[in-house]
Amino acid sequence: MLFRGWGDALGGRWPDVATAVDHVGVVHLVVTRHALVRQVLADPVTFRPDNALDAVTPLPVAALRLLAGHRFRLPPTLANNGGASHPQIRGIVADALHPTRVAAQRPWLTGLVRERVAKLRAALDAGVPVDLHADFAADLPLLVLARLVELPDAPVSAVKEFARAALELFWAPLDEARQRALAAEVGRFHTVLRGFAATGGGLAARLRAAGHSPDVVVGALFFLLVAGQETTSQFLTLLLHRLTGEPTVRAGLHDGSVAVADVVEEGLRLEPPIVTWRRVAAVDATLGGTAVPAGTGVVLWLARAGRDPDVVPAPGEFRPGQRGSRRHLAFGAGAHRCVGAQLARLEAAVVVSEAAPLLDGVRVVRPPWYPDNLTFRMPDAFVIARP
Ligand code: HEM
Repeated sequence: MLFRGWGDALGGRWPDVATAVDHVGVVHLVVTRHALVRQVLADPVTFRPDNALDAVTPLPVAALRLLAGHRFRLPPTLANNGGASHPQIRGIVADALHPTRVAAQRPWLTGLVRERVAKLRAALDAGVPVDLHADFAADLPLLVLARLVELPDAPVSAVKEFARAALELFWAPLDEARQRALAAEVGRFHTVLRGFAATGGGLAARLRAAGHSPDVVVGALFFLLVAGQETTSQFLTLLLHRLTGEPTVRAGLHDGSVAVADVVEEGLRLEPPIVTWRRVAAVDATLGGTAVPAGTGVVLWLARAGRDPDVVPAPGEFRPGQRGSRRHLAFGAGAHRCVGAQLARLEAAVVVSEAAPLLDGVRVVRPPWYPDNLTFRMPDAFVIARP
């Protein structure tokens, strides 16, 4: 039931704080209200981020052996780091993603997106269906990230496969055979990352120069390669899919009465690619009147918090610029708030500006399919065609 929480974001009757048992019998506290989700995110002392990257299906010995064979480790670095090293590691990553550096990517990205939109338009005009995920959105964020932080010299397809394998291995309900296959895939790429962490330039070099151990450099790169591109490509597909069914919003974009930035924010509020995020209670606490014993895993339902009627007047409707629209928690909040928010917003803004007109008069041949996953939407093919 936890795994389809995103599908239930509008309907369903959930209390503000509810206990839920996952597929392996672990009890989590699910937090649904915006104010309470915010309260947890803003207090990393009571609710630590240490469990952010824990596998929701415990890894069996066979998968752990495979990972150990690749010297795989995920020490506290960024999202899972409640310790003293967090501010410095975060600072180094934030420098690489400085707003000025991010803004400088806009002309290049706009050129690339325009080129792709022209090709897609030509295909649609010729009566050929196009896949807006595979042929448009999937690799854009990785290509931008590669320009901002030097990345291992691996083919785009290898990085994408590794990132999706990692999201499945750590956040999906899985059987043992699948865990072994994913562990082999994640482990293989981890070896590539270890080599790059030892000798690579850019971000890896800066982390090394600050005295961080090889395990920490690999861990930071690992997280960035997943968080820094897979999330955004998922969001681009989710947003394009949503906009296909929002002709009034597209018309507003066309006549200038709707701002692109407002569309992006409303998209993040209603279609966040990260549906939930986790914390763990470090001490006995209370939340919205519910006792939270130390050690309890807390699942913050970010998608539901974005649809909290206390925050926006029309929670389920895509109304760019409505009051409260920007108060979503799609990027988290507090000390661990997403460092890539500016970059994700830029990428989405360019895509909305350039690609929204492509959606006029198309029919959806195949909407994206979403696998079971506690945290990530992971859309696959999104195919459109002219009627
Ligand atoms: C739409 C796209 C994205 C979404 C929805 C998203 C969402 C999130 C969320 C929910 C968190 C956890 C925040 C918390 O614990 O309070 C996070 C953390 C993080 N994100 Fe993003 N993210 C996106 C794109 C990116 C991009 C493009 C990058 C970098 C290139 C990035 C890098 C990070 C990093 C490094 C952290 C850890 C920050 C820390 O612990 O200090 N993210 N993100």
